[in-house]
Amino acid sequence: MKTSELQTIKQRYNIVGNCDALNHVLDVALQVAPTDLSVLIVGESGVGKEIIPRVIHDNSPRRREKYFAINCGSIPEGTIDSELFGHVKGSFTGAINDSPGYFGVANKGTLFLDEVGELPLATQARLLRVLETGEYIPVGATEVRKTDVRIVAATNLNIRKAISEGRFREDLYYRLNSIPIQMPPLRERGEDIILLFRLFAMQMAEKYKMDRIVLDEGARQLLMKYKWPGNVRQLKNITEQISILSPERKITASVLSKFIPQDQETTQLAVINHRNDASHDQETETLYMMIRQLHGSMNEMRREMELLKKQIEEQHGRTINTVQLPSSNQLAPIQPVAPIQSVAEDAFAEEYVEPEKEPENLNLNDISKQMLEKALERNHGNRRKAAQELGISDRTLYRRLKQYGLDQ
Ligand SMILES: Nc1ncnc2c1ncn2[C@@H]1O[C@H](COP(=O)(O)OP(=O)(O)OP(=O)(O)O)[C@@H](O)[C@H]1O
Ligand SMILES: [Mg+2]
Repeated sequence: MKTSELQTIKQRYNIVGNCDALNHVLDVALQVAPTDLSVLIVGESGVGKEIIPRVIHDNSPRRREKYFAINCGSIPEGTIDSELFGHVKGSFTGAINDSPGYFGVANKGTLFLDEVGELPLATQARLLRVLETGEYIPVGATEVRKTDVRIVAATNLNIRKAISEGRFREDLYYRLNSIPIQMPPLRERGEDIILLFRLFAMQMAEKYKMDRIVLDEGARQLLMKYKWPGNVRQLKNITEQISILSPERKITASVLSKFIPQDQETTQLAVINHRNDASHDQETETLYMMIRQLHGSMNEMRREMELLKKQIEEQHGRTINTVQLPSSNQLAPIQPVAPIQSVAEDAFAEEYVEPEKEPENLNLNDISKQMLEKALERNHGNRRKAAQELGISDRTLYRRLKQYGLDQ
């Protein structure tokens, strides 16, 4: 693949990076695109797997047909077969009409099965059949249907381990894995880390209408040395946190070190990393969500104060002085040594205290539950939209609904 062709693809999909491993991934994706072979994309969480199936579809002869991205981990086990393979009217309570399912509607197009490792075993058997023969039977139907769908799948699981534990079918793995694509972890991408930081710093500057943060040499070194267990997603989140919370725009190693855990053994975030991935994801996502909301509330309050001030000035014909709310870049940076839960509560306590109204023992879970309920209310119960509004994945939303008993 010529360098200029790769450059064009990167620009079109906003993919940043120039390391050999990333270039190789794009090269393989473009080579396999014109075929109908199944592709399995593997790589740690947050490495950027989700854009690859789109690149493959857009560069394939199916480009004018339908493309669906389905997160297998976010669909409840009870409905996944019907969502994928459709159902006939009356086959279960609530099946008031026939439904074609994704394999029906995506005929001639591409299906991206994200988090394919989360599929229940019974669904894996159905998927294997459709991959081998192009045939499937909708839930409750007796007749076989035919479909012509290209499958691209992705997972951050160690599939070999899942196979040895009986959670994933070996035959399905080999069938999906016709062409494997291994996304490199961020820690192995060298200078790309700096390029990505620059991209995210620019995006945040635009999003929050503030000056872009830049790294000094020490901070650069630290960014390159860090292991990035949450990969590009973690780098993006940390860049967002620093953009919002650092009073300085020139970031030194000492400022940066307050936002990234440097020593995996001794820092609080590292302790969280030792727990299972799902709980770590959930807590960090909750924290980021709260920071974003805090930032939004402050901007809103500032605007309202300005408006109020203007109205009073107009009524009384004189200028009044108001207490200035601190701008978001005057907030104190997060202290990394504090436990993550109290960091989040402190952030709230410092800027958003309403002691008369808020119960004193409101903890992170209560806040998270309330936010969830409100988001669902605002979106009339639409879970996907609520998840988007909260900036969390469908899967995390589903997990939390279950956790708080809101999934009925
Ligand atoms: N090379 C890149 N250039 C720009 N942005 C990137 C790049 N790689 C990843 N990102 C961004 O990083 C974030 C995480 O990527 P993505 O959602 O694709 O991760 P993933 O591999 O699917 O992770 P998971 O397994 O947890 O679902 C996204 O916001 C994505 O846009
Ligand atoms: Mg993903």
